[in-house]
Amino acid sequence: MSSNFQAPKGVNEYVPPRSAIYLAARDAFAAVATRAGYSYLELPVFEDTALFSRGVGESTDVVSKEMYTFEDRGGRSLTLRPEFTVGVLRSVLQHNLHRGELPVKVWATGPAFRYERAQAGRYRQFYQVDLEAIGSEDPAVDVETIALAWDWYRELGLTRHSLHLNSLGCRECRPVYRAALQEFLRGLDLDEATRARIELNPLRVLDDKRPEVRAQVEAAPVVTDYLCGACKTHHDKVRELLADLEISWVDDPRLVRGLDYYTRTTYEFDHPLLGAQSGIGGGGRYDGLSEDIGGPPLPGIGFGLGLDRTVLAMEAEEAAAATVAGVTVYGVPLGEEAQRRIFGLVAALRRAGIAADMSYDGKKLKGAMRGADRSGAAYAVILGERDIAAGSAQLKDLASGDQVAVPLDEIVTTLKERLSQP
Ligand code: HAM
Repeated sequence: MSSNFQAPKGVNEYVPPRSAIYLAARDAFAAVATRAGYSYLELPVFEDTALFSRGVGESTDVVSKEMYTFEDRGGRSLTLRPEFTVGVLRSVLQHNLHRGELPVKVWATGPAFRYERAQAGRYRQFYQVDLEAIGSEDPAVDVETIALAWDWYRELGLTRHSLHLNSLGCRECRPVYRAALQEFLRGLDLDEATRARIELNPLRVLDDKRPEVRAQVEAAPVVTDYLCGACKTHHDKVRELLADLEISWVDDPRLVRGLDYYTRTTYEFDHPLLGAQSGIGGGGRYDGLSEDIGGPPLPGIGFGLGLDRTVLAMEAEEAAAATVAGVTVYGVPLGEEAQRRIFGLVAALRRAGIAADMSYDGKKLKGAMRGADRSGAAYAVILGERDIAAGSAQLKDLASGDQVAVPLDEIVTTLKERLSQP
């Protein structure tokens, strides 16, 4: 029987054995980011509500429908972060990191919250790894971020993901495109809500998933035909550098992102085995965001990759098995004195850097050996009364079943030697 309580609807939680995949994925990301000179940021889970409404944009679904907003006991309006980027930028500006070497390269991870319709791969509490490079307009930085996401997916064993690339232009050329798109959309046969959207956020109409809308917007003007000279040069350079790194991509002039701050380069990673929620990550430039939240002009680019969907993709590609961690050695004490010795031995093994666990509660041999099997250990150290009298323990190779007596004070060194052999 479980308790009277369940986790709230739509939240995703990780319990063993699956949590090992999650942790391995997150740790691998830390290594990828650190290797490229990105430093870690630990940010608050909630921020001033106005930061998100200004930064992410009032007209987005995220801000208008999905935020977890509450008033604290001091009457402040706070919101659980629906994404990381605006909080990262707020923190960088608050701590004056942008006055040092540019770009400021940082990454963060943790939960984010959106009140969405919960389904497989879409949760109300979900997890991201987020990486941002702030203070550079160089297209090489755009490609660096893409390459890091790409390398991470590869390192996790994924092979089926794809990259979709677009440019959304800048403050100069986007309004021209926006006007052309609005004019086209106004001529279509659309429902009231969608018509209202044309005036508020016409790019979002391109993202409408309904077949009857999709069919009509097929012939809509595309943003890449409206890029100004500087945006076009930037976009071409991004594509050239991607090719240099042998990263394949699909040009997708209909790719619009669900957040308002994007300019120029935007991209998404998709996985074909995940059904409707196939977006495993996305990112892009946000050259005007700093000013939107009251900061100085400061360009930036980065991405947020969905840990939940990445774990699902690893499972779908059967890339997850290798990452499930266990212990290496399992102690099996038979009797009270043996329990005390094994307890000390397991502590010594751990101090020597060897992952070890043991059975508790005076379990008999059969139950304890079942624990050893389940632990994933390669070796069991079995200690009975007769062994104690002889000053040794039985070291059992759990794969082959071979068992030898080893003097108690040589167990740690013996295991170290055996484990260092390939
Ligand atoms: P986003 O596209 O909203 O971008 O989210 C990035 C990724 O988070 C998605 O591709 C998806 O994998 C995952 N994700 C989003 N919502 C959910 C959900 N409800 N359940 C499960 N996974 C989800 C951003 O958040 C931007 N801040 C990315 C960025 C960083 N752009 C520039 N820098």
